[in-house]
Amino acid sequence: MFIVIIGPPGAGKGTQAKRLTEEMGLIHLSTGDIFRENINNRTELGVKVKKLLDNGILVSDELTIEIVKDRLIDLGFDRGAIFDGFPRNVVQAQALDDFLRDNGAKVSVALSIEVQNEVVIDRLTGRRTDMKTGRIYHVIYDPPPVGVKVEQRADDIRETVEKRLSDYCETTVPIIEYYKQRGILSVIDGNADVDDVTENLVKCLSGEVLL
Ligand code: AP5
Repeated sequence: MFIVIIGPPGAGKGTQAKRLTEEMGLIHLSTGDIFRENINNRTELGVKVKKLLDNGILVSDELTIEIVKDRLIDLGFDRGAIFDGFPRNVVQAQALDDFLRDNGAKVSVALSIEVQNEVVIDRLTGRRTDMKTGRIYHVIYDPPPVGVKVEQRADDIRETVEKRLSDYCETTVPIIEYYKQRGILSVIDGNADVDDVTENLVKCLSGEVLL
């Protein structure tokens, strides 16, 4: 099964994708994580995209699509995947559909997690990531245990979060309609508690709720 998770920055895409991955045995494919891994390992790709990520600017469609295709070819198509942060616009959504179709697969469900802007700003300015494991924390709602070394993402400062939010409305929101027209969209309230959001996502995926 191939699942797309859509939502503004801080909607909880990464948090929920990791939980669903564990629950369903799918592969978690986050383009943001791939770029950050490359930045941390100072690869050629990492050097190329660092400034863009630090400033909340989208990487080119060409490069992003190529990376996703390569990753899917490496992983194979048998286990399915949860795409987090990809596709980010209609061009990427079409490229994903074409590539999956050419490989005998398709996106079965698109989950759109909706969250208010003030909630996003609160979550992202408080987000911290475990430098070793990648586990996501929040300084107030999910504080890291004492002794765990965490870092703040460079793009989680308020001005950059506001820019990312405005880009999301302009560039990514149109893919919600794209998947709605294909009859595979479910909308979930992401303002709720993390466990409640997971429960609702699982219900959507089991076909109990399809909007
Ligand atoms: P990416 O990594 O995809 O970032 P994003 O979309 O901005 O989303 P975030 O990772 O910030 O948020 P999230 O929704 O995953 O929330 P999380 O679960 O962490 O992309 C980063 C950059 O990479 C882009 O700006 C671009 O430069 C580049 N890029 C990536 N993909 C690209 C593409 N396809 N094309 C071009 N460029 C691309 O949760 C956030 C916080 O909230 C955490 O602290 C968490 O603990 C907390 N939290 C989560 N859920 C809840 C809840 N229900 N209640 C309370 N707290 C919660």
